Amino acid sequence: MRKQSNLYIFGFAIAVCLFASVVLAVASTALKPAQTQQVRLDIIHNILSVAGYTEDQLKGKKPAEIIDLYEKKFEVHLIDKNNEPVERSEMEQELLGLGYKEAELTEKKTFELLEVYNSKIGLLAKKAGKSREAYDRGIKVVYLYKPEGEIKYYIIPIEGNGLWGMMYGYIALETDLNTVAGIRFYKHIETPGLGAELAKHDHNKKWIGKKILDEDGKLVSVMVAKGSAEQTHPQEIEHYVDGISGATLTGKGINQFLKEDLETYEPYFKTRRNEPTANESAGEEQ
Ligand SMILES: Cc1cc2nc3c(=O)[nH]c(=O)nc-3n(C[C@H](O)[C@H](O)[C@H](O)COP(=O)(O)O)c2cc1C
Repeated sequence: MRKQSNLYIFGFAIAVCLFASVVLAVASTALKPAQTQQVRLDIIHNILSVAGYTEDQLKGKKPAEIIDLYEKKFEVHLIDKNNEPVERSEMEQELLGLGYKEAELTEKKTFELLEVYNSKIGLLAKKAGKSREAYDRGIKVVYLYKPEGEIKYYIIPIEGNGLWGMMYGYIALETDLNTVAGIRFYKHIETPGLGAELAKHDHNKKWIGKKILDEDGKLVSVMVAKGSAEQTHPQEIEHYVDGISGATLTGKGINQFLKEDLETYEPYFKTRRNEPTANESAGEEQ
């Protein structure tokens, strides 16, 4: 066999590397829109799921139909840490100042825009000459599920540490902003068969009907018990769900971050609890 010169071997290796990097760059750029669409669909799917849509109801639907369902049945509200409403245009304006294109921002769903905005808080604060803490308005999202025009559920995102890492999900509350209508954990790295059992749909059903407020209206949240809720917390059964053996530490994590997340929304919930319902206001007007 003819021996190749070192120059030829190096030249060939460089050509292969260049070719591979061009192919990867083109593939990554070409697949980006599809990836973004997939992430968007996944989030919307989970919001629909926590609002009570079953897998059977969603299975045959095309991506455009799922997005259309979400747009028609949900109203998305933004609030800051002082419970003041925030318009998405306020976030858009600030991001335009960082060089984002208007079309790029308009195309985003509100939860996507909020994610971009939160990832740029440091930069926005620097531009405004403020510290991050002073600048950050703590903007968060609430999804109002309105299947027939009136609010049926309030849905908020929940996230925090389980045992091995971050867990992400949603909790849906009935209009009393006290009764749990559903909970979903859609992203986590807990161990299958142990911590991950708490994130399964079968276990999630146990949360339905539980209360986040005590008899005095104080926020106590809902907690995963260590073992059977009935045996360990018979007097507070409204605030406990069954634990699972081998998932105690994941349960502790959920208990902590769920309460913290509910606390950040509590001022907003409190205001909404005190507002007359649509029916009551209609009655007053007559
Ligand atoms: C490989 C491995 C993975 C584990 N994964 C989890 C987990 O995801 N969540 C959890 O709460 N505990 C997990 N555990 C068990 C905890 O370390 C701990 O022993 C357990 O939560 C306490 O047991 P109990 O729930 O029966 O009281 C794991 C243990 C091992 C060895």
